[in-house]
Amino acid sequence: MYNAKNERYDTMKYNRCGKSGLLLPAVSLGLWHNFGDNDDFENMRQMCFTAFDNGITHFDLANNYGPKPGAAEKNFGIILKNDLTCYRDELIISTKAGYDMWPGPYGNFGSRKYLIASLDQSLKRMGLDYVDIFYHHRMDPDTPLEETMGALAQIVRSGKALYVGISNYDGPNLSKATKILDDLHVPFIINQNRYSIFDRGIEKNGLKEKAKELGKGIICFSPLAQGLLTDRYINGIPEDSRIRRSGVFLNERALTEEKLAQIKGLNEIAKKRGQTLAEMALSWILKDGYVTSVLIGASKPSQILDNIKAIENTVFTEDELKEIDSLSI
Ligand SMILES: NC(=O)c1ccc[n+]([C@@H]2O[C@H](COP(=O)([O-])OP(=O)(O)OC[C@H]3O[C@@H](n4cnc5c(N)ncnc54)[C@H](OP(=O)(O)O)[C@@H]3O)[C@@H](O)[C@H]2O)c1
Repeated sequence: MYNAKNERYDTMKYNRCGKSGLLLPAVSLGLWHNFGDNDDFENMRQMCFTAFDNGITHFDLANNYGPKPGAAEKNFGIILKNDLTCYRDELIISTKAGYDMWPGPYGNFGSRKYLIASLDQSLKRMGLDYVDIFYHHRMDPDTPLEETMGALAQIVRSGKALYVGISNYDGPNLSKATKILDDLHVPFIINQNRYSIFDRGIEKNGLKEKAKELGKGIICFSPLAQGLLTDRYINGIPEDSRIRRSGVFLNERALTEEKLAQIKGLNEIAKKRGQTLAEMALSWILKDGYVTSVLIGASKPSQILDNIKAIENTVFTEDELKEIDSLSI
């Protein structure tokens, strides 16, 4: 039986999520990859234990994480039941709905029908009564925002989620969603968006500034650009890497000569700072206090141990920031 280390909260930093009462670890663990039915179950367990042992209290899932869709929630549910049940009140577990999940017109996007049915399925797969955060996973151009936000409100009122969030929304839609949810007195506290040295989208679409102005948290996904912002690909493409093992969301075409040169340049800056490139890429996101938590993925426990060291040095000189920008934008 697994026993969490008692000193697990000593080194992690916890940031307030916007103006809410919830603190999130500066580094959270996502289960998008490496928790599917084709992956090694013991490795999944060890990654969860390594994360929790080191103060990562937040585990992020979605209905469609697998393969096959739903598998990550099912596998995480087994780990929870067998090893982590007694720690439920020390954990923040999130899930989402918004992408294609089941056939027919009710298994996708943002209708009330889809969101409520999907969360019920997620809770069953994970063996939970409630999740801590439930997200609408992406903007839906056709469903009225009032309906989607109304479904989030009902989910909170029914006790199936404590807080709600939105993912992949831009600044203007964040403002609209906030207005609706505030009027409904719903604890909407967090935005989940992609952000990294290589992807500055939330600086351009207004989300980063707007979230701060509205007092909402930000949790950033793919902060390592799915592994590009690490030393993983500097000497070729390893057989056990995401490009080789999955290749769906990150494939060899992303690794152009120009990109590789940028990665090598960034790696040199990281070395001068006494960090690995992965550590520096995460520190860079946490540097200005806008982001509540960096949401990492990992394929092995050692990567988690490397990544949590990012919180030890989040201060950058002006010259370092200029050099990073010159290599990446
Ligand atoms: N809301 C959304 O729409 C959305 C979309 C995408 C993701 N997410 C969430 O964000 C989470 C993280 O996304 P992500 O997996 O793309 O994040 P990421 O942290 O950018 O990439 C993770 C990958 O980077 C590599 N890696 C991690 N740490 C490393 C280290 N220290 N040294 C070398 N390589 C390292 C591993 O690749 P290898 O497998 O090659 O070892 C790992 O699988 C997901 O699990 C999910 O919860 C949300």
